[in-house]
Amino acid sequence: VNIILLGPPGAGKGTQARRLVDERGLVQLSTGDMLREARSSGTEMGNVVAEVMDKGQLVTDEIVIGLIREKLEGSDAPGFIFDGFPRTLAQADALGELLDGMGQKVDGVVEMRVDDDALVERISGRYTCGNCGEVYHDSTKPTKVEGVCDVCGSTDLRRRADDNAESLKTRLLEYYKKTSPLIGYYYAKGTLHPVDGMAAVDTVAGEMAGVLDRL
Ligand code: AP5
Ligand code: ZN
Repeated sequence: VNIILLGPPGAGKGTQARRLVDERGLVQLSTGDMLREARSSGTEMGNVVAEVMDKGQLVTDEIVIGLIREKLEGSDAPGFIFDGFPRTLAQADALGELLDGMGQKVDGVVEMRVDDDALVERISGRYTCGNCGEVYHDSTKPTKVEGVCDVCGSTDLRRRADDNAESLKTRLLEYYKKTSPLIGYYYAKGTLHPVDGMAAVDTVAGEMAGVLDRL
């Protein structure tokens, strides 16, 4: 199955995607992670996207669709979790066409609903492991030993450059302006499944498992 995780910044897309990889053997395709990889590699494209990302704006459809196309074409995975993609109607159309060309489709779109206040709280406390990608939070999910990743033991714990109040404001505006129209887009296609993203991580995971089992 191919699933899209749709929701504002900090809704918990990355957190839930990692669980689905572990539990269902699906492949996570996070355009945010791909873009962060591109910028750290110092390529020409990476330098262009770095500035845009740090401001909290969306990177161009052309770049992002190109990244996804590359991943889909080279993969024989049983299914994908799209995390942070699509984010515009143009990206949604492009994804539909790419999957169609592979004889596949978007089977379900999980819309993660979280209040703005909670998003700010989640983003401002977030840090991740630079080695394995595990996601943490200062108050709701700190590492067991301070400064050491629970999963892989790495001490490379990082905060994102765009996780500051100013960029977050722009990221939220971008979400409501350009991404939230996808809710209606997928509702009309009959593939939209809203879940309560305000609940605890395990509760949200349980609700999502129920959605996936019914697809
Ligand atoms: P991206 O990396 O996709 O970031 P985002 O959408 O802003 O989402 P986040 O990663 O911030 O949040 P999340 O929903 O994954 O939450 P998480 O699980 O970490 O994009 C970054 C930038 O790249 C964009 O601004 C744009 O510039 C560019 N970009 C990426 N894709 C693009 C595209 N398709 N087109 C154009 N540009 C693109 O959780 C957050 C925190 O909350 C964590 O600390 C976690 O521990 C905690 N938490 C999670 N769930 C819960 C819960 N249920 N209860 C309590 N705490 C929780
Ligand atoms: Zn780690």
